[in-house]
Amino acid sequence: VSAPLPPKHVAIIMDGNGRWAQSRHHRRIYGHIRGASVAKAIIEHAAGRGISHLTLFAFSTENWLRPKDEVSFLMALMARRLRRECHSLVRNNIRFECIGEFFRLPGLVREQILATKAATSGCTGMTLTFAVSYGGRQELIDGFRGLARKIAAGQLSPEDIDEKTISNALESSFLPTPDLIIRTSGENRLSNFFLWQAAYSEFYFCPEPWPEFSPASFDAAVASYVSRDRRYGRVAEPPGLSMVPPA
Ligand code: IPE
Ligand code: IPE
Ligand code: MG
Repeated sequence: VSAPLPPKHVAIIMDGNGRWAQSRHHRRIYGHIRGASVAKAIIEHAAGRGISHLTLFAFSTENWLRPKDEVSFLMALMARRLRRECHSLVRNNIRFECIGEFFRLPGLVREQILATKAATSGCTGMTLTFAVSYGGRQELIDGFRGLARKIAAGQLSPEDIDEKTISNALESSFLPTPDLIIRTSGENRLSNFFLWQAAYSEFYFCPEPWPEFSPASFDAAVASYVSRDRRYGRVAEPPGLSMVPPA
Protein backbone atom coordinates (compact mmCIF):
# COMPACT_ATOMS: atom_id res chain seq x y z
CA VAL A 1 0.00 0.00 0.00
CA SER A 2 2.57 2.55 1.10
CA ALA A 3 5.61 3.92 -0.66
CA PRO A 4 6.13 1.77 -3.74
CA LEU A 5 9.33 3.72 -4.20
CA PRO A 6 12.49 1.97 -5.29
CA PRO A 7 14.93 1.22 -2.45
CA LYS A 8 17.55 3.88 -1.81
CA HIS A 9 19.93 1.61 0.02
CA VAL A 10 20.27 -2.04 -0.96
CA ALA A 11 22.59 -4.25 1.08
CA ILE A 12 23.61 -7.74 0.00
CA ILE A 13 24.95 -10.66 2.02
CA MET A 14 26.81 -12.40 -0.78
CA ASP A 15 26.67 -16.02 0.38
CA GLY A 16 27.14 -19.47 -1.12
CA ASN A 17 30.39 -19.17 -3.09
CA GLY A 18 32.05 -22.16 -1.43
CA ARG A 19 29.11 -24.53 -1.68
CA TRP A 20 28.49 -23.51 -5.30
CA ALA A 21 32.07 -24.42 -6.19
CA GLN A 22 32.10 -27.64 -4.19
CA SER A 23 28.88 -28.87 -5.77
CA ARG A 24 30.74 -28.58 -9.08
CA HIS A 25 33.77 -30.44 -7.74
CA HIS A 26 35.87 -27.30 -7.61
CA ARG A 27 37.72 -25.84 -4.70
CA ARG A 28 35.94 -23.21 -2.62
CA ILE A 29 38.23 -20.46 -3.89
CA TYR A 30 36.91 -20.97 -7.41
CA GLY A 31 33.53 -19.89 -6.05
CA HIS A 32 35.09 -16.72 -4.67
CA ILE A 33 36.62 -15.92 -8.05
CA ARG A 34 33.26 -16.31 -9.75
CA GLY A 35 31.61 -14.40 -6.91
CA ALA A 36 33.89 -11.42 -7.50
CA SER A 37 32.80 -11.24 -11.15
CA VAL A 38 29.16 -11.38 -10.10
CA ALA A 39 29.81 -8.55 -7.64
CA LYS A 40 31.17 -6.40 -10.48
CA ALA A 41 28.12 -7.13 -12.65
CA ILE A 42 25.69 -6.36 -9.82
CA ILE A 43 27.49 -3.15 -8.86
CA GLU A 44 27.24 -1.84 -12.41
CA HIS A 45 23.65 -3.00 -12.76
CA ALA A 46 22.59 -1.33 -9.50
CA ALA A 47 24.31 1.91 -10.49
CA GLY A 48 22.55 1.77 -13.86
CA ARG A 49 19.21 1.32 -12.12
CA GLY A 50 19.75 4.47 -10.11
CA ILE A 51 20.22 2.83 -6.69
CA SER A 52 21.88 5.50 -4.55
CA HIS A 53 23.59 3.20 -2.02
CA LEU A 54 24.74 -0.38 -2.45
CA THR A 55 26.48 -2.18 0.39
CA LEU A 56 28.14 -5.54 -0.10
CA PHE A 57 29.00 -7.78 2.85
CA ALA A 58 32.27 -9.25 1.66
CA PHE A 59 33.96 -10.57 4.80
CA SER A 60 32.70 -10.82 8.38
CA THR A 61 34.56 -10.52 11.69
CA GLU A 62 33.83 -14.25 12.06
CA ASN A 63 35.26 -15.15 8.64
CA TRP A 64 38.78 -14.77 10.11
CA LEU A 65 38.10 -18.17 11.71
CA ARG A 66 38.16 -19.89 8.30
CA PRO A 67 41.22 -21.88 7.15
CA LYS A 68 44.24 -19.63 6.68
CA ASP A 69 44.52 -20.45 2.97
CA GLU A 70 40.96 -19.38 2.23
CA VAL A 71 41.36 -16.13 4.21
CA SER A 72 44.58 -15.17 2.45
CA PHE A 73 43.09 -16.04 -0.92
CA LEU A 74 40.05 -13.85 -0.23
CA MET A 75 42.26 -10.95 0.85
CA ALA A 76 44.50 -11.25 -2.23
CA LEU A 77 41.43 -11.48 -4.46
CA MET A 78 39.95 -8.36 -2.93
CA ALA A 79 43.18 -6.37 -3.43
CA ARG A 80 43.49 -7.58 -7.02
CA ARG A 81 39.90 -6.86 -7.98
CA LEU A 82 39.93 -3.41 -6.41
CA ARG A 83 43.07 -2.52 -8.33
CA ARG A 84 41.60 -3.85 -11.54
CA GLU A 85 38.16 -2.27 -11.19
CA CYS A 86 39.09 1.15 -9.88
CA HIS A 87 38.85 2.70 -13.33
CA SER A 88 35.42 1.26 -14.08
CA LEU A 89 34.15 2.64 -10.78
CA VAL A 90 35.33 6.09 -11.79
CA ARG A 91 33.87 5.65 -15.27
CA ASN A 92 30.51 4.72 -13.73
CA ASN A 93 30.69 7.66 -11.28
CA ILE A 94 30.59 5.27 -8.29
CA ARG A 95 32.02 6.42 -4.97
CA PHE A 96 33.76 3.67 -3.03
CA GLU A 97 33.59 3.37 0.75
CA CYS A 98 34.56 0.69 3.21
CA ILE A 99 33.35 -0.24 6.71
CA GLY A 100 34.80 -2.79 9.12
CA GLU A 101 38.02 -3.37 11.03
CA PHE A 102 40.44 -1.73 8.63
CA PHE A 103 43.43 -2.30 10.94
CA ARG A 104 43.00 -6.09 10.73
CA LEU A 105 43.35 -6.18 6.93
CA PRO A 106 46.63 -7.05 5.22
CA GLY A 107 48.66 -4.08 3.98
CA LEU A 108 47.91 -4.77 0.32
CA VAL A 109 44.17 -4.67 0.91
CA ARG A 110 44.44 -1.51 3.01
CA GLU A 111 46.44 0.18 0.24
CA GLN A 112 43.91 -0.72 -2.44
CA ILE A 113 41.01 0.41 -0.29
CA LEU A 114 42.65 3.78 0.33
CA ALA A 115 43.60 4.14 -3.34
CA THR A 116 40.07 3.27 -4.53
CA LYS A 117 38.48 5.63 -2.01
CA ALA A 118 40.79 8.43 -3.10
CA ALA A 119 40.26 7.80 -6.82
CA THR A 120 36.46 7.80 -6.47
CA SER A 121 36.06 10.50 -3.82
CA GLY A 122 34.77 12.98 -6.40
CA CYS A 123 32.18 10.57 -7.83
CA THR A 124 28.61 11.69 -7.32
CA GLY A 125 26.61 8.65 -8.46
CA MET A 126 26.01 5.51 -6.42
CA THR A 127 27.86 5.02 -3.14
CA LEU A 128 29.29 1.50 -3.05
CA THR A 129 30.27 0.36 0.42
CA PHE A 130 32.24 -2.81 1.06
CA ALA A 131 31.82 -4.34 4.51
CA VAL A 132 35.14 -6.05 5.14
CA SER A 133 36.05 -7.57 8.48
CA TYR A 134 32.70 -6.12 9.42
CA GLY A 135 30.51 -7.28 12.30
CA GLY A 136 27.38 -5.52 13.52
CA ARG A 137 28.27 -6.19 17.14
CA GLN A 138 31.83 -4.90 16.69
CA GLU A 139 30.52 -1.75 15.06
CA LEU A 140 28.20 -1.21 18.04
CA ILE A 141 31.01 -1.90 20.53
CA ASP A 142 33.22 0.69 18.83
CA GLY A 143 30.37 3.19 18.74
CA PHE A 144 29.51 2.67 22.42
CA ARG A 145 33.17 3.07 23.36
CA GLY A 146 33.21 6.40 21.57
CA LEU A 147 30.10 7.54 23.46
CA ALA A 148 31.52 6.31 26.78
CA ARG A 149 34.69 8.31 26.14
CA LYS A 150 32.62 11.44 25.52
CA ILE A 151 30.68 10.85 28.73
CA ALA A 152 33.90 10.31 30.67
CA ALA A 153 35.24 13.56 29.23
CA GLY A 154 32.08 15.39 30.25
CA GLN A 155 31.09 16.13 26.63
CA LEU A 156 27.93 14.05 26.69
CA SER A 157 25.32 13.27 29.29
CA PRO A 158 23.74 9.78 29.41
CA GLU A 159 20.27 11.35 29.24
CA ASP A 160 21.11 12.84 25.86
CA ILE A 161 21.64 9.44 24.26
CA ASP A 162 18.90 8.67 21.78
CA GLU A 163 18.62 6.74 18.51
CA LYS A 164 20.31 9.50 16.59
CA THR A 165 23.24 9.66 19.00
CA ILE A 166 23.84 5.95 18.54
CA SER A 167 23.38 6.00 14.75
CA ASN A 168 25.84 8.88 14.52
CA ALA A 169 28.38 7.06 16.69
CA LEU A 170 28.54 4.15 14.24
CA GLU A 171 31.16 3.85 11.52
CA SER A 172 28.38 3.46 8.94
CA SER A 173 26.67 6.69 10.02
CA PHE A 174 27.21 8.12 6.53
CA LEU A 175 24.77 5.58 5.12
CA PRO A 176 20.98 5.78 5.19
CA THR A 177 19.43 2.71 6.85
CA PRO A 178 19.18 -0.22 4.43
CA ASP A 179 15.75 -0.43 2.81
CA LEU A 180 16.33 -3.88 1.38
CA ILE A 181 18.70 -6.60 2.58
CA ILE A 182 19.24 -9.47 0.15
CA ARG A 183 20.86 -12.76 1.15
CA THR A 184 21.69 -15.42 -1.38
CA SER A 185 22.14 -19.19 -1.06
CA GLY A 186 19.06 -20.02 0.97
CA GLU A 187 20.32 -19.08 4.43
CA ASN A 188 17.74 -17.13 6.40
CA ARG A 189 19.90 -15.25 8.84
CA LEU A 190 21.73 -11.97 9.34
CA SER A 191 25.10 -13.45 10.43
CA ASN A 192 26.02 -10.29 12.37
CA PHE A 193 25.43 -7.88 9.49
CA PHE A 194 23.81 -4.42 10.13
CA LEU A 195 22.24 -5.33 13.50
CA TRP A 196 21.23 -1.82 14.50
CA GLN A 197 20.46 -0.62 10.99
CA ALA A 198 18.19 -3.54 10.01
CA ALA A 199 15.42 -2.63 12.51
CA TYR A 200 12.96 -1.87 9.69
CA SER A 201 14.74 -3.28 6.65
CA GLU A 202 12.86 -5.50 4.25
CA PHE A 203 14.49 -8.90 3.76
CA TYR A 204 14.78 -10.91 0.58
CA PHE A 205 16.19 -14.40 0.80
CA CYS A 206 16.80 -16.22 -2.44
CA PRO A 207 17.97 -19.78 -3.09
CA GLU A 208 20.60 -18.99 -5.74
CA PRO A 209 24.18 -19.14 -4.50
CA TRP A 210 26.00 -15.84 -5.07
CA PRO A 211 27.89 -17.03 -8.20
CA GLU A 212 24.47 -17.60 -9.85
CA PHE A 213 22.95 -14.29 -8.77
CA SER A 214 22.23 -12.14 -11.83
CA PRO A 215 20.95 -8.68 -12.71
CA ALA A 216 17.57 -10.37 -13.22
CA SER A 217 17.74 -11.75 -9.66
CA PHE A 218 18.52 -8.25 -8.41
CA ASP A 219 15.53 -6.88 -10.29
CA ALA A 220 13.33 -9.62 -8.81
CA ALA A 221 14.43 -8.59 -5.31
CA VAL A 222 13.69 -4.93 -6.03
CA ALA A 223 10.30 -5.86 -7.53
CA SER A 224 9.48 -7.81 -4.37
CA TYR A 225 10.52 -4.83 -2.25
CA VAL A 226 8.40 -2.42 -4.24
CA SER A 227 5.32 -4.62 -3.80
CA ARG A 228 5.57 -4.58 -0.01
CA ASP A 229 3.82 -2.47 2.57
CA ARG A 230 6.26 -0.87 5.01
CA ARG A 231 4.15 0.05 8.02
CA TYR A 232 6.84 0.83 10.60
CA GLY A 233 4.52 -0.46 13.31
CA ARG A 234 1.66 1.75 12.26
CA VAL A 235 -1.63 1.09 10.51
CA ALA A 236 -1.65 1.07 6.70
CA GLU A 237 -2.66 4.36 5.13
CA PRO A 238 -4.82 4.72 2.04
CA PRO A 239 -3.04 4.02 -1.24
CA GLY A 240 -1.01 6.85 -2.64
CA LEU A 241 0.10 8.25 0.69
CA SER A 242 3.66 7.26 1.30
CA MET A 243 4.67 6.61 4.84
CA VAL A 244 7.56 8.40 6.41
CA PRO A 245 9.86 6.22 8.52
CA PRO A 246 9.94 7.11 12.23
CA ALA A 247 12.59 9.72 12.95
C1 IPE B 1 30.34 -16.03 0.73
O1 IPE B 1 30.40 -17.37 0.38
C2 IPE B 1 31.69 -15.35 0.76
C3 IPE B 1 32.23 -15.11 2.12
C4 IPE B 1 31.60 -15.32 3.24
C5 IPE B 1 33.58 -14.61 2.20
P1 IPE B 1 30.86 -18.47 1.41
O2 IPE B 1 32.33 -18.58 1.38
O3 IPE B 1 30.26 -18.23 2.74
O4 IPE B 1 30.23 -19.78 0.75
P2 IPE B 1 29.42 -20.91 1.52
O5 IPE B 1 28.34 -20.23 2.27
O6 IPE B 1 30.39 -21.60 2.40
O7 IPE B 1 28.91 -21.76 0.42
C1 IPE C 1 28.03 -14.09 5.97
O1 IPE C 1 28.24 -15.34 5.38
C2 IPE C 1 29.21 -13.22 5.70
C3 IPE C 1 29.41 -12.82 4.32
C4 IPE C 1 28.65 -13.13 3.30
C5 IPE C 1 30.55 -12.00 4.08
P1 IPE C 1 28.82 -16.58 6.19
O2 IPE C 1 28.90 -17.70 5.23
O3 IPE C 1 30.07 -16.19 6.88
O4 IPE C 1 27.71 -16.81 7.30
P2 IPE C 1 27.28 -18.13 8.09
O5 IPE C 1 28.51 -18.71 8.67
O6 IPE C 1 26.64 -19.05 7.12
O7 IPE C 1 26.29 -17.64 9.11
MG1 MG D 1 28.54 -18.79 3.67
